[in-house]
Amino acid sequence: MKKKSNFIKVSNKSLKTAAKILKKGGVVAFPTETVYGLGACAFDSKAAAKIFKIKKRPFFDPLIVHICDKSQLSILSLEIPPKVKRLTDLFWPGPLTLILKKKESVPDIVTAGLNTVAVRMPSCQISLKLIKEAGFPIAAPSANLFSRISPVRASHVKNQLKNGPDLILDGGKTLKGLESTIIKFEKGKFYILREGALPSDKIEKKAKIKLIKPKQAKITAPGMLKKHYSPKAEVIIVKGEKEAGDLRAAYIAFKKLPLKNFKYKKVLSSKGCLEEAAANLFDFFHETEKMKIKKIYVEKVPHKGLGKAINDRIIRAAAKEG
Ligand code: TXA
Ligand code: MG
Repeated sequence: MKKKSNFIKVSNKSLKTAAKILKKGGVVAFPTETVYGLGACAFDSKAAAKIFKIKKRPFFDPLIVHICDKSQLSILSLEIPPKVKRLTDLFWPGPLTLILKKKESVPDIVTAGLNTVAVRMPSCQISLKLIKEAGFPIAAPSANLFSRISPVRASHVKNQLKNGPDLILDGGKTLKGLESTIIKFEKGKFYILREGALPSDKIEKKAKIKLIKPKQAKITAPGMLKKHYSPKAEVIIVKGEKEAGDLRAAYIAFKKLPLKNFKYKKVLSSKGCLEEAAANLFDFFHETEKMKIKKIYVEKVPHKGLGKAINDRIIRAAAKEG
């Protein structure tokens, strides 16, 4: 049976309602500064199981646990190495997820049976207030169907998760538009598991550390699967409109609008600003989906700073399989 989702604007009252739902073991979609999350109490296995069902997500894909205060780390993680603590000092709250050794009290369903847990403290005030009001950390993956594009507006959640959450909190378009950067610390070394809204070179520079890319063969996060973050349409990467012949398609350019009359054409950022491009990419993908467009031409962006995460999502969206 299809369940109707409650769709509600963020206010002090709706945040209280959302927290109540979470306390009763319900599931709430809420905005963060990166993308919308689909949240449940991190210590409630039954509630967390509902997330997997709604997203059609395989159980081998662990969730990120969101906290509202650095002190909450100690209820999730066994130990916080000083080098990792330095990263939390530098970048939290913000779009950085850290993989840490988990405490036994964190349910297996949340961590997919791993002995580690992914934690992040978002900077979005709405997320922080919700976690505080709930009184416990919130486990939340992005609020999309498995392997599809993450939502950056509440309407995207509503359109994808029809059989959905008990409540969708509408807090407008998310600020960053791309998921968090994921880092794992293991045997004294830092590994980057996913490029994201916090550019990896910024982390290296500010924290004076080296981030190692894990070998592709050893997939340690499903976000690293070749085909992930995909729109329904076929995505084709092009260098310019010369390579794009089908006018029924959408064309997403980096800076310069194409001259040809594609059914949908947009620039990620006319100023060439990567932050703006990141905030627009998924939003444009969702728009083309709404228009039922079957093919999307997309230009890559300069491969530096945030551009690495943007190109990563574009390449995965265009991947055929895997
Ligand atoms: O910005 C974000 O990170 C958003 C918002 C809602 O916070 N969340 C998000 O979650 O993107 P999700 O589930 O779509 O992606 C989380 C990634 C997954 O690819 C998962 O495999 C990885 O984090 N992950 C979670 N726990 C892990 C662990 N213990 N070890 C390695 N990877 C882990
Ligand atoms: Mg996701």
